[in-house]
Amino acid sequence: MRKPFVAGNWKMNLDLASARSLVEGIAKGLGATSKIDVAICPPSIYLFPMAKAVAGTPIALGAQNCWSEPSGAFTGEVSAAMVKETGCRYVILGHSERRNTIGPKDANGRVAGESNAMIAAKVRAVFDNGLIPIVCIGETLAQRDANETESVLTSQIAGSLESVKPDEAKKLVIAYEPVWAIGTGRTASTAQAQAAHAHIRGQLVERFGAGAANAIRIQYGGSVKPDNARELMSCADVDGALVGGASLKPDDFVKIIQETISANDL
Ligand code: PGA
Repeated sequence: MRKPFVAGNWKMNLDLASARSLVEGIAKGLGATSKIDVAICPPSIYLFPMAKAVAGTPIALGAQNCWSEPSGAFTGEVSAAMVKETGCRYVILGHSERRNTIGPKDANGRVAGESNAMIAAKVRAVFDNGLIPIVCIGETLAQRDANETESVLTSQIAGSLESVKPDEAKKLVIAYEPVWAIGTGRTASTAQAQAAHAHIRGQLVERFGAGAANAIRIQYGGSVKPDNARELMSCADVDGALVGGASLKPDDFVKIIQETISANDL
């Protein structure tokens, strides 16, 4: 049985004081033990203070990104080793905002952000530094409407996970985040989520074999809220959530964690 994993992606939100009180609220709501894995992923500038804030709680720490090279002339970036030093356990990689939103726009307003190859290089750096990558994949609305969901997921998996060694695979975390559901209030139906997760699992079986693939946690992300969490978290191949907006409210985030626990009969 895979241990469900709920992570909060804070994106570029909060100041230090509100970050501290958010962690306090989550820790209070969670109590001493958690039956599932829980992490917060603050902006990297807050990782050190948040490491202090989560000390002695069941909350783990994750970064939202890192660079692939170990050191050098990469102004503004942080390496996986630097992230590791803060006390982080996880690193989100290839979030759709990094793939499609952050970066210069071309004449048509499109951003060619991080490629699968860049993400694969970052996955390598993250594993090499004893961290666990949360690799995000997901289709846009246009791709879903064009019936390309499965082929997009297949090529994102092949490209972004190219650098994963067979003995590392079971530690991986995948986040399936349909781009049209992120921050929009629209969520995938349970049928859509389960179908995408089953497809992803099938690809992981082909790539890493059934043993490893069945150990890999696949989170769902995209407008997960307290009132839709139980349904989504009940799907057979959904092993937790990557939560954006609702992870900024302690009561909502704790409720999502509790719904994940009950949906999995833990
Ligand atoms: P959301 O964000 O929950 O606000 O839709 C999810 C994410 O981007 O990870």
